[in-house]
Amino acid sequence: MTDQLIIFDTTMRDGEQSPGASMTREEKVRIGRQLERLRVDVIEAGFPAASPGDFESVKAVASVIKDSTVCGLARAQENDIRRTGEAIALAVSGRIHTFIATSPIHMEKKLRMTPEQVLDAAVKAVTLARSYTDDVEFSCEDAVRSDPDFMCRVIEAVIKAGARTINIPDTVGYAIPFQYGALIESLMTRVPNSDQAIFSVHCHNDLGLAVSNSLAAVLAGARQVECTINGLGERAGNAALEEIVMALKTRRDVFNLDTRIDTTQIVAASRLVSTITGFPVQPNKAVVGANAFAHESGIHQDGVLKHRETYEIMRAEDVGWNANKLVLGKHSGRSAFKARLAELGIGLDSEVAVNAAFQRFKELADKKHEIFDEDIHAIVSEELTELQNEHYALVSLMAHSETGEQPQARLVIALGGVEQQTQSSGSGPVDAAFKAIENVVKSGAELQLYSVNNITSGTESQGEVTVRLSRGGRIVNGLGADTDIVVASAKAYLSALNKLDARTERVSPQV
Ligand code: KIV
Ligand code: ZN
Repeated sequence: MTDQLIIFDTTMRDGEQSPGASMTREEKVRIGRQLERLRVDVIEAGFPAASPGDFESVKAVASVIKDSTVCGLARAQENDIRRTGEAIALAVSGRIHTFIATSPIHMEKKLRMTPEQVLDAAVKAVTLARSYTDDVEFSCEDAVRSDPDFMCRVIEAVIKAGARTINIPDTVGYAIPFQYGALIESLMTRVPNSDQAIFSVHCHNDLGLAVSNSLAAVLAGARQVECTINGLGERAGNAALEEIVMALKTRRDVFNLDTRIDTTQIVAASRLVSTITGFPVQPNKAVVGANAFAHESGIHQDGVLKHRETYEIMRAEDVGWNANKLVLGKHSGRSAFKARLAELGIGLDSEVAVNAAFQRFKELADKKHEIFDEDIHAIVSEELTELQNEHYALVSLMAHSETGEQPQARLVIALGGVEQQTQSSGSGPVDAAFKAIENVVKSGAELQLYSVNNITSGTESQGEVTVRLSRGGRIVNGLGADTDIVVASAKAYLSALNKLDARTERVSPQV
Protein backbone atom coordinates (compact mmCIF):
# COMPACT_ATOMS: atom_id res chain seq x y z
CA MET A 1 0.00 0.00 0.00
CA THR A 2 1.39 3.41 -1.00
CA ASP A 3 2.19 5.99 1.64
CA GLN A 4 0.97 8.76 -0.67
CA LEU A 5 -2.58 10.11 -0.61
CA ILE A 6 -3.91 11.45 -3.91
CA ILE A 7 -5.72 14.76 -3.55
CA PHE A 8 -8.48 15.12 -6.12
CA ASP A 9 -9.99 18.58 -6.20
CA THR A 10 -13.55 18.96 -7.46
CA THR A 11 -14.09 22.65 -6.66
CA MET A 12 -14.74 23.37 -10.33
CA ARG A 13 -17.21 20.51 -10.76
CA ASP A 14 -19.01 19.56 -7.54
CA GLY A 15 -18.18 22.99 -6.08
CA GLU A 16 -19.66 24.65 -9.11
CA GLN A 17 -22.92 22.84 -8.36
CA SER A 18 -23.49 25.13 -5.35
CA PRO A 19 -26.29 27.57 -6.15
CA GLY A 20 -24.85 30.61 -7.91
CA ALA A 21 -21.25 29.33 -7.91
CA SER A 22 -20.93 28.90 -11.64
CA MET A 23 -17.61 29.97 -13.06
CA THR A 24 -16.63 31.35 -16.44
CA ARG A 25 -13.95 29.72 -18.54
CA GLU A 26 -11.40 32.34 -17.59
CA GLU A 27 -12.25 31.98 -13.90
CA LYS A 28 -11.77 28.21 -14.17
CA VAL A 29 -8.38 28.70 -15.76
CA ARG A 30 -7.38 31.01 -12.91
CA ILE A 31 -8.58 28.57 -10.26
CA GLY A 32 -6.93 25.72 -12.18
CA ARG A 33 -3.59 27.53 -12.10
CA GLN A 34 -3.89 28.14 -8.37
CA LEU A 35 -4.75 24.46 -7.80
CA GLU A 36 -1.66 23.54 -9.79
CA ARG A 37 0.42 25.86 -7.57
CA LEU A 38 -1.21 24.14 -4.59
CA ARG A 39 0.00 20.90 -6.21
CA VAL A 40 -3.24 18.97 -6.17
CA ASP A 41 -2.87 15.68 -8.02
CA VAL A 42 -6.12 15.76 -9.95
CA ILE A 43 -8.25 18.76 -10.95
CA GLU A 44 -11.83 17.89 -11.87
CA ALA A 45 -12.55 20.88 -14.09
CA GLY A 46 -16.19 20.30 -14.99
CA PHE A 47 -18.82 18.22 -16.69
CA PRO A 48 -18.17 18.67 -20.43
CA ALA A 49 -21.45 17.19 -21.68
CA ALA A 50 -23.52 19.55 -19.53
CA SER A 51 -23.21 22.53 -21.88
CA PRO A 52 -20.94 23.95 -24.59
CA GLY A 53 -19.62 26.37 -21.96
CA ASP A 54 -18.66 23.52 -19.61
CA PHE A 55 -16.98 21.73 -22.50
CA GLU A 56 -14.91 24.81 -23.42
CA SER A 57 -13.94 25.41 -19.80
CA VAL A 58 -12.64 21.87 -19.28
CA LYS A 59 -10.78 22.10 -22.59
CA ALA A 60 -9.22 25.43 -21.61
CA VAL A 61 -8.09 24.10 -18.22
CA ALA A 62 -6.75 20.92 -19.86
CA SER A 63 -4.68 22.95 -22.28
CA VAL A 64 -2.91 25.12 -19.67
CA ILE A 65 -2.31 22.80 -16.72
CA LYS A 66 0.92 20.85 -16.89
CA ASP A 67 1.63 19.57 -13.42
CA SER A 68 -1.74 18.12 -12.34
CA THR A 69 -4.03 15.62 -14.03
CA VAL A 70 -7.11 17.30 -15.53
CA CYS A 71 -10.32 15.35 -15.25
CA GLY A 72 -13.82 15.69 -16.69
CA LEU A 73 -16.98 14.06 -15.33
CA ALA A 74 -19.23 11.96 -17.55
CA ARG A 75 -22.38 9.97 -16.94
CA ALA A 76 -22.10 6.35 -18.07
CA GLN A 77 -23.44 7.30 -21.47
CA GLU A 78 -21.74 7.32 -24.84
CA ASN A 79 -22.21 11.02 -25.63
CA ASP A 80 -20.94 12.13 -22.20
CA ILE A 81 -17.82 9.96 -22.47
CA ARG A 82 -17.03 11.14 -26.00
CA ARG A 83 -17.46 14.83 -25.09
CA THR A 84 -15.26 14.37 -22.04
CA GLY A 85 -12.64 12.50 -24.05
CA GLU A 86 -12.54 15.42 -26.51
CA ALA A 87 -12.42 18.02 -23.74
CA ILE A 88 -9.38 16.49 -22.03
CA ALA A 89 -7.57 15.56 -25.26
CA LEU A 90 -5.03 18.39 -24.91
CA ALA A 91 -4.12 17.60 -21.32
CA VAL A 92 -0.59 16.49 -20.52
CA SER A 93 -2.31 14.04 -18.20
CA GLY A 94 -6.08 13.62 -18.64
CA ARG A 95 -8.65 11.54 -16.78
CA ILE A 96 -12.24 10.57 -17.53
CA HIS A 97 -14.40 10.13 -14.44
CA THR A 98 -17.55 8.21 -15.25
CA PHE A 99 -20.32 7.28 -12.86
CA ILE A 100 -23.66 5.59 -12.49
CA ALA A 101 -25.85 5.12 -9.46
CA THR A 102 -25.81 1.71 -7.78
CA SER A 103 -28.31 2.20 -4.94
CA PRO A 104 -31.76 0.59 -5.25
CA ILE A 105 -33.52 3.94 -4.84
CA HIS A 106 -31.50 5.64 -7.59
CA MET A 107 -31.61 2.68 -9.99
CA GLU A 108 -35.34 2.20 -9.58
CA LYS A 109 -36.66 5.74 -9.19
CA LYS A 110 -34.13 7.89 -11.06
CA LEU A 111 -32.51 5.73 -13.72
CA ARG A 112 -35.40 3.27 -14.12
CA MET A 113 -32.84 0.61 -14.84
CA THR A 114 -32.37 -2.90 -13.47
CA PRO A 115 -29.13 -3.72 -11.63
CA GLU A 116 -28.01 -5.81 -14.64
CA GLN A 117 -28.53 -2.84 -16.97
CA VAL A 118 -26.53 -0.62 -14.61
CA LEU A 119 -23.70 -3.15 -14.50
CA ASP A 120 -23.70 -3.35 -18.28
CA ALA A 121 -23.72 0.47 -18.71
CA ALA A 122 -20.85 0.83 -16.23
CA VAL A 123 -18.65 -1.65 -18.09
CA LYS A 124 -19.47 -0.11 -21.48
CA ALA A 125 -18.71 3.38 -20.18
CA VAL A 126 -15.34 2.38 -18.75
CA THR A 127 -14.43 0.46 -21.91
CA LEU A 128 -15.26 3.46 -24.10
CA ALA A 129 -13.46 5.86 -21.75
CA ARG A 130 -10.33 3.69 -21.98
CA SER A 131 -10.27 4.29 -25.73
CA TYR A 132 -9.57 7.99 -24.91
CA THR A 133 -7.21 7.67 -21.95
CA ASP A 134 -5.57 5.06 -19.72
CA ASP A 135 -6.60 7.07 -16.68
CA VAL A 136 -10.25 6.19 -16.03
CA GLU A 137 -12.10 6.59 -12.75
CA PHE A 138 -15.43 4.96 -12.00
CA SER A 139 -17.88 6.04 -9.28
CA CYS A 140 -20.77 4.07 -7.79
CA GLU A 141 -23.07 7.02 -7.19
CA ASP A 142 -24.92 6.83 -3.85
CA ALA A 143 -22.56 4.04 -2.81
CA VAL A 144 -23.36 4.37 0.88
CA ARG A 145 -26.99 3.38 0.25
CA SER A 146 -26.05 0.65 -2.23
CA ASP A 147 -26.06 -3.09 -1.62
CA PRO A 148 -22.38 -3.97 -0.97
CA ASP A 149 -22.75 -7.34 -2.76
CA PHE A 150 -23.94 -5.61 -5.92
CA MET A 151 -21.20 -2.97 -5.64
CA CYS A 152 -18.59 -5.72 -5.38
CA ARG A 153 -19.83 -7.13 -8.70
CA VAL A 154 -19.83 -3.72 -10.39
CA ILE A 155 -16.39 -2.78 -9.07
CA GLU A 156 -14.82 -6.09 -10.11
CA ALA A 157 -16.29 -5.71 -13.61
CA VAL A 158 -15.20 -2.11 -14.13
CA ILE A 159 -11.68 -2.83 -12.91
CA LYS A 160 -11.57 -5.66 -15.45
CA ALA A 161 -12.77 -3.17 -18.09
CA GLY A 162 -9.87 -0.84 -17.24
CA ALA A 163 -10.90 1.52 -14.43
CA ARG A 164 -7.81 2.51 -12.44
CA THR A 165 -9.60 4.44 -9.69
CA ILE A 166 -12.75 3.31 -7.91
CA ASN A 167 -14.65 6.01 -6.11
CA ILE A 168 -17.16 5.23 -3.36
CA PRO A 169 -19.16 8.44 -2.90
CA ASP A 170 -21.37 9.32 -0.01
CA THR A 171 -23.56 11.26 -2.41
CA VAL A 172 -26.21 12.29 0.09
CA GLY A 173 -23.98 12.81 3.13
CA TYR A 174 -25.53 9.89 5.03
CA ALA A 175 -22.45 8.03 6.24
CA ILE A 176 -21.11 7.75 9.78
CA PRO A 177 -17.31 7.53 10.03
CA PHE A 178 -16.88 4.04 11.50
CA GLN A 179 -19.45 2.53 9.12
CA TYR A 180 -17.98 4.27 6.10
CA GLY A 181 -14.46 3.13 7.01
CA ALA A 182 -15.76 -0.42 7.40
CA LEU A 183 -17.48 -0.25 3.99
CA ILE A 184 -14.25 0.83 2.26
CA GLU A 185 -12.28 -1.88 4.02
CA SER A 186 -14.79 -4.57 3.15
CA LEU A 187 -14.97 -3.56 -0.54
CA MET A 188 -11.19 -3.58 -0.79
CA THR A 189 -11.06 -6.99 0.84
CA ARG A 190 -13.92 -8.60 -1.04
CA VAL A 191 -13.34 -7.42 -4.61
CA PRO A 192 -10.87 -9.96 -6.01
CA ASN A 193 -8.99 -7.54 -8.30
CA SER A 194 -9.09 -4.55 -5.91
CA ASP A 195 -5.29 -4.40 -5.90
CA GLN A 196 -5.42 -3.18 -9.51
CA ALA A 197 -7.15 0.07 -8.57
CA ILE A 198 -6.83 2.96 -6.14
CA PHE A 199 -9.88 3.29 -3.88
CA SER A 200 -11.18 6.81 -3.56
CA VAL A 201 -13.73 8.59 -1.39
CA HIS A 202 -16.01 11.53 -2.03
CA CYS A 203 -18.09 12.76 0.89
CA HIS A 204 -20.86 15.30 1.18
CA ASN A 205 -21.38 17.31 4.31
CA ASP A 206 -25.13 17.06 4.98
CA LEU A 207 -24.50 15.84 8.53
CA GLY A 208 -21.30 17.85 8.94
CA LEU A 209 -19.27 14.63 8.68
CA ALA A 210 -17.63 14.90 5.26
CA VAL A 211 -14.09 15.38 6.54
CA SER A 212 -14.46 12.82 9.35
CA ASN A 213 -15.87 10.25 6.93
CA SER A 214 -13.08 10.87 4.42
CA LEU A 215 -10.43 10.44 7.11
CA ALA A 216 -12.05 7.25 8.42
CA ALA A 217 -11.91 5.91 4.87
CA VAL A 218 -8.25 6.86 4.57
CA LEU A 219 -7.50 4.92 7.75
CA ALA A 220 -9.34 1.98 6.20
CA GLY A 221 -7.19 2.02 3.05
CA ALA A 222 -8.58 4.63 0.64
CA ARG A 223 -5.75 6.38 -1.18
CA GLN A 224 -7.57 9.16 -2.99
CA VAL A 225 -9.76 11.81 -1.37
CA GLU A 226 -12.08 13.99 -3.41
CA CYS A 227 -12.56 17.38 -1.85
CA THR A 228 -13.06 21.07 -2.54
CA ILE A 229 -11.56 24.36 -1.50
CA ASN A 230 -13.55 25.85 1.40
CA GLY A 231 -15.75 22.74 1.32
CA LEU A 232 -17.77 24.26 -1.52
CA GLY A 233 -20.19 21.83 -3.15
CA GLU A 234 -23.67 20.57 -3.76
CA ARG A 235 -26.07 21.38 -0.83
CA ALA A 236 -24.01 21.47 2.41
CA GLY A 237 -20.84 21.01 0.38
CA ASN A 238 -18.03 18.48 0.08
CA ALA A 239 -15.13 17.59 2.34
CA ALA A 240 -12.87 20.64 2.65
CA LEU A 241 -9.47 20.11 1.04
CA GLU A 242 -7.69 22.35 3.53
CA GLU A 243 -9.07 20.41 6.50
CA ILE A 244 -8.16 17.01 5.06
CA VAL A 245 -4.65 18.09 4.14
CA MET A 246 -3.93 19.80 7.44
CA ALA A 247 -5.34 16.88 9.44
CA LEU A 248 -2.96 14.55 7.61
CA LYS A 249 -0.03 16.87 8.11
CA THR A 250 -0.73 17.77 11.73
CA ARG A 251 -1.60 14.21 12.75
CA ARG A 252 1.03 12.40 10.75
CA ASP A 253 1.44 10.20 13.83
CA VAL A 254 -2.03 8.79 13.12
CA PHE A 255 -2.14 8.73 9.31
CA ASN A 256 1.50 8.27 8.30
CA LEU A 257 0.73 9.51 4.80
CA ASP A 258 2.10 12.23 2.57
CA THR A 259 0.43 14.46 0.02
CA ARG A 260 2.05 16.55 -2.69
CA ILE A 261 0.24 19.67 -1.46
CA ASP A 262 2.14 22.91 -0.93
CA THR A 263 0.19 23.98 2.13
CA THR A 264 1.46 27.57 1.93
CA GLN A 265 -0.84 28.02 -1.07
CA ILE A 266 -3.99 27.10 0.87
CA VAL A 267 -5.11 30.56 1.96
CA ALA A 268 -4.52 32.01 -1.52
CA ALA A 269 -6.64 29.22 -3.02
CA SER A 270 -9.37 29.79 -0.46
CA ARG A 271 -9.48 33.54 -1.13
CA LEU A 272 -9.50 33.08 -4.88
CA VAL A 273 -12.37 30.59 -4.82
CA SER A 274 -14.32 32.77 -2.44
CA THR A 275 -13.79 35.87 -4.59
CA ILE A 276 -14.72 34.15 -7.83
CA THR A 277 -17.77 32.29 -6.58
CA GLY A 278 -18.99 34.97 -4.20
CA PHE A 279 -19.18 32.42 -1.36
CA PRO A 280 -17.67 34.08 1.72
CA VAL A 281 -15.67 31.99 4.17
CA GLN A 282 -17.17 31.96 7.65
CA PRO A 283 -14.77 33.55 10.19
CA ASN A 284 -14.61 30.43 12.37
CA LYS A 285 -13.98 28.06 9.43
CA ALA A 286 -11.11 25.69 10.24
CA VAL A 287 -7.75 26.56 8.66
CA VAL A 288 -8.93 29.34 6.32
CA GLY A 289 -11.42 31.34 8.44
CA ALA A 290 -10.29 34.79 9.56
CA ASN A 291 -10.39 33.65 13.21
CA ALA A 292 -8.72 30.29 12.66
CA PHE A 293 -5.52 31.52 14.28
CA ALA A 294 -6.89 34.39 16.38
CA HIS A 295 -6.88 34.06 20.16
CA GLU A 296 -9.40 36.11 22.09
CA SER A 297 -9.24 34.85 25.66
CA GLY A 298 -6.55 36.40 27.84
CA ILE A 299 -5.47 33.00 29.10
CA HIS A 300 -4.94 31.75 25.53
CA GLN A 301 -3.13 34.90 24.44
CA ASP A 302 -0.85 34.69 27.42
CA GLY A 303 -0.12 31.02 26.73
CA VAL A 304 0.60 31.58 23.05
CA LEU A 305 2.91 34.49 23.81
CA LYS A 306 4.86 32.35 26.25
CA HIS A 307 4.94 29.27 24.05
CA ARG A 308 3.04 29.12 20.76
CA GLU A 309 2.21 25.43 21.00
CA THR A 310 0.24 25.84 24.23
CA TYR A 311 -2.82 26.65 22.13
CA GLU A 312 -1.79 26.30 18.48
CA ILE A 313 -1.49 22.97 16.73
CA MET A 314 -0.67 24.45 13.29
CA ARG A 315 1.36 27.45 12.25
CA ALA A 316 -0.57 30.17 10.41
CA GLU A 317 2.33 30.69 8.02
CA ASP A 318 2.27 27.00 7.03
CA VAL A 319 -1.12 27.48 5.38
CA GLY A 320 -0.23 30.81 3.81
CA TRP A 321 -1.57 33.33 6.28
CA ASN A 322 0.46 36.54 6.21
CA ALA A 323 1.78 35.59 2.81
CA ASN A 324 -0.24 38.27 1.04
CA LYS A 325 2.87 40.36 0.51
CA LEU A 326 2.60 44.03 -0.22
CA VAL A 327 3.12 43.80 -3.93
CA LEU A 328 2.56 47.12 -5.56
CA GLY A 329 1.91 50.72 -4.68
CA LYS A 330 0.75 53.87 -6.42
CA HIS A 331 4.13 54.41 -8.06
CA SER A 332 4.25 50.95 -9.61
CA GLY A 333 4.20 50.97 -13.38
CA ARG A 334 2.33 48.93 -15.94
CA SER A 335 5.12 46.41 -16.41
CA ALA A 336 5.34 45.69 -12.66
CA PHE A 337 1.58 45.23 -12.64
CA LYS A 338 1.72 42.92 -15.63
CA ALA A 339 4.53 40.90 -14.05
CA ARG A 340 2.50 40.45 -10.86
CA LEU A 341 -0.50 39.28 -12.90
CA ALA A 342 1.75 36.67 -14.52
CA GLU A 343 3.10 35.55 -11.11
CA LEU A 344 -0.47 35.13 -9.91
CA GLY A 345 -1.25 33.05 -12.98
CA ILE A 346 -3.68 35.63 -14.34
CA GLY A 347 -3.58 35.68 -18.11
CA LEU A 348 -5.59 38.53 -19.60
CA ASP A 349 -6.45 37.94 -23.24
CA SER A 350 -5.70 41.34 -24.66
CA GLU A 351 -3.77 44.54 -24.08
CA VAL A 352 -7.16 46.28 -23.75
CA ALA A 353 -7.96 44.07 -20.76
CA VAL A 354 -4.53 44.69 -19.19
CA ASN A 355 -4.90 48.44 -19.68
CA ALA A 356 -8.36 48.48 -18.14
CA ALA A 357 -7.21 46.42 -15.14
CA PHE A 358 -4.14 48.66 -14.76
CA GLN A 359 -6.36 51.74 -14.81
CA ARG A 360 -8.46 50.26 -11.98
CA PHE A 361 -5.32 49.38 -10.09
CA LYS A 362 -4.12 52.99 -10.33
CA GLU A 363 -7.47 54.30 -9.13
CA LEU A 364 -7.38 51.91 -6.19
CA ALA A 365 -3.75 52.73 -5.36
CA ASP A 366 -4.76 56.39 -5.09
CA LYS A 367 -7.36 55.54 -2.46
CA LYS A 368 -5.58 52.74 -0.69
CA HIS A 369 -1.83 52.80 -0.24
CA GLU A 370 -1.13 49.11 0.08
CA ILE A 371 -2.21 46.80 -2.70
CA PHE A 372 -2.23 43.09 -1.88
CA ASP A 373 -2.66 40.04 -4.07
CA GLU A 374 -6.29 39.78 -2.97
CA ASP A 375 -6.89 43.31 -4.26
CA ILE A 376 -5.47 42.33 -7.63
CA HIS A 377 -7.70 39.27 -7.85
CA ALA A 378 -10.72 41.41 -6.99
CA ILE A 379 -9.80 44.00 -9.64
CA VAL A 380 -9.35 41.33 -12.29
CA SER A 381 -12.55 39.46 -11.40
CA GLU A 382 -14.54 42.65 -11.73
CA GLU A 383 -12.77 43.72 -14.89
CA LEU A 384 -13.32 40.39 -16.62
CA THR A 385 -16.97 40.21 -15.69
CA GLU A 386 -17.44 43.63 -17.21
CA LEU A 387 -15.45 42.97 -20.34
CA GLN A 388 -17.29 39.76 -21.02
CA ASN A 389 -20.76 41.04 -20.62
CA GLU A 390 -21.32 44.53 -19.46
CA HIS A 391 -24.81 45.53 -20.37
CA TYR A 392 -25.35 47.32 -17.08
CA ALA A 393 -22.52 49.45 -15.69
CA LEU A 394 -22.17 51.92 -12.88
CA VAL A 395 -21.15 55.37 -14.04
CA SER A 396 -21.47 57.31 -10.79
CA LEU A 397 -23.14 57.13 -7.42
CA MET A 398 -23.98 59.60 -4.71
CA ALA A 399 -25.34 58.30 -1.42
CA HIS A 400 -26.55 60.37 1.48
CA SER A 401 -27.29 59.20 4.98
CA GLU A 402 -27.80 61.30 8.06
CA THR A 403 -29.14 60.46 11.49
CA GLY A 404 -32.90 61.03 11.56
CA GLU A 405 -33.17 61.39 7.75
CA GLN A 406 -34.16 58.80 5.21
CA PRO A 407 -31.07 57.57 3.29
CA GLN A 408 -31.00 58.50 -0.40
CA ALA A 409 -29.01 57.26 -3.38
CA ARG A 410 -28.64 58.88 -6.77
CA LEU A 411 -26.94 56.91 -9.53
CA VAL A 412 -26.05 57.19 -13.15
CA ILE A 413 -26.00 53.77 -14.77
CA ALA A 414 -25.31 52.79 -18.34
CA LEU A 415 -27.75 50.39 -19.98
CA GLY A 416 -26.19 49.03 -23.14
CA GLY A 417 -24.04 52.18 -23.33
CA VAL A 418 -26.91 54.63 -22.77
CA GLU A 419 -26.61 56.58 -19.55
CA GLN A 420 -29.61 57.00 -17.32
CA GLN A 421 -30.07 58.80 -14.03
CA THR A 422 -32.04 57.24 -11.23
CA GLN A 423 -32.64 57.81 -7.55
CA SER A 424 -34.45 56.36 -4.59
CA SER A 425 -34.67 56.39 -0.85
CA GLY A 426 -34.30 53.24 1.21
CA SER A 427 -33.86 51.84 4.69
CA GLY A 428 -30.11 52.42 4.28
CA PRO A 429 -27.86 53.73 1.50
CA VAL A 430 -27.35 50.24 0.03
CA ASP A 431 -31.08 49.54 -0.02
CA ALA A 432 -31.64 52.96 -1.64
CA ALA A 433 -29.01 52.20 -4.32
CA PHE A 434 -30.58 48.80 -5.14
CA LYS A 435 -34.05 50.35 -5.33
CA ALA A 436 -32.76 53.10 -7.61
CA ILE A 437 -31.24 50.50 -9.94
CA GLU A 438 -34.47 48.53 -10.00
CA ASN A 439 -36.45 51.69 -10.81
CA VAL A 440 -34.87 51.63 -14.27
CA VAL A 441 -33.88 47.99 -14.81
CA LYS A 442 -37.08 46.35 -13.49
CA SER A 443 -35.34 42.98 -13.52
CA GLY A 444 -37.96 41.01 -11.63
CA ALA A 445 -35.07 39.31 -9.80
CA GLU A 446 -35.24 38.37 -6.17
CA LEU A 447 -32.39 39.31 -3.84
CA GLN A 448 -31.35 36.11 -2.05
CA LEU A 449 -28.14 37.12 -0.37
CA TYR A 450 -26.19 40.25 0.37
CA SER A 451 -22.83 40.02 2.09
CA VAL A 452 -19.84 42.28 2.66
CA ASN A 453 -16.29 41.18 3.41
CA ASN A 454 -13.22 43.26 3.71
CA ILE A 455 -10.62 41.95 1.29
CA THR A 456 -7.63 42.76 3.44
CA SER A 457 -7.56 44.13 6.97
CA GLY A 458 -8.06 47.72 8.10
CA THR A 459 -10.70 50.34 7.41
CA GLU A 460 -9.05 51.52 4.22
CA SER A 461 -9.41 48.00 2.77
CA GLN A 462 -11.65 47.36 -0.19
CA GLY A 463 -15.06 46.02 0.71
CA GLU A 464 -16.00 43.03 -1.39
CA VAL A 465 -19.72 42.61 -1.79
CA THR A 466 -21.61 39.54 -2.98
CA VAL A 467 -25.15 39.89 -4.26
CA ARG A 468 -27.09 36.73 -5.09
CA LEU A 469 -30.10 37.15 -7.34
CA SER A 470 -32.56 34.59 -8.59
CA ARG A 471 -35.05 34.71 -11.42
CA GLY A 472 -37.02 31.91 -13.04
CA GLY A 473 -35.06 29.23 -11.18
CA ARG A 474 -31.65 30.66 -12.16
CA ILE A 475 -29.33 31.83 -9.44
CA VAL A 476 -26.27 34.03 -9.93
CA ASN A 477 -23.73 35.72 -7.69
CA GLY A 478 -22.50 39.21 -8.55
CA LEU A 479 -19.34 40.63 -7.07
CA GLY A 480 -18.23 44.20 -6.55
CA ALA A 481 -15.20 45.64 -4.82
CA ASP A 482 -14.45 49.19 -3.81
CA THR A 483 -13.15 51.09 -0.82
CA ASP A 484 -16.67 52.56 -0.61
CA ILE A 485 -19.06 49.72 0.25
CA VAL A 486 -22.14 51.44 -1.21
CA VAL A 487 -20.31 51.67 -4.54
CA ALA A 488 -19.13 48.05 -4.15
CA SER A 489 -22.73 47.03 -3.46
CA ALA A 490 -24.11 48.80 -6.55
CA LYS A 491 -21.38 47.21 -8.68
CA ALA A 492 -22.18 43.77 -7.26
CA TYR A 493 -25.88 44.24 -7.97
CA LEU A 494 -25.22 45.28 -11.57
CA SER A 495 -22.74 42.45 -12.03
CA ALA A 496 -25.39 39.95 -10.88
CA LEU A 497 -27.90 41.47 -13.32
CA ASN A 498 -25.35 41.09 -16.14
CA LYS A 499 -24.80 37.45 -15.25
CA LEU A 500 -28.52 36.81 -14.98
CA ASP A 501 -29.00 38.06 -18.53
CA ALA A 502 -25.98 36.24 -19.91
CA ARG A 503 -25.92 32.81 -18.39
CA THR A 504 -26.65 30.01 -20.77
CA GLU A 505 -28.70 27.06 -19.63
CA ARG A 506 -27.04 23.69 -19.26
CA VAL A 507 -28.29 21.22 -21.84
CA SER A 508 -28.35 18.24 -19.52
CA PRO A 509 -29.21 18.01 -15.85
CA GLN A 510 -26.51 18.49 -13.27
CA VAL A 511 -25.32 15.53 -11.29
O1 KIV B 1 -21.69 13.02 -4.99
C1 KIV B 1 -21.51 12.24 -5.94
O2 KIV B 1 -21.91 11.08 -5.95
C2 KIV B 1 -20.79 12.76 -7.09
C3 KIV B 1 -20.34 11.75 -8.07
C4 KIV B 1 -20.58 12.17 -9.46
C5 KIV B 1 -18.91 11.40 -7.82
O3 KIV B 1 -20.52 13.94 -7.16
ZN1 ZN C 1 -20.60 14.89 -5.16
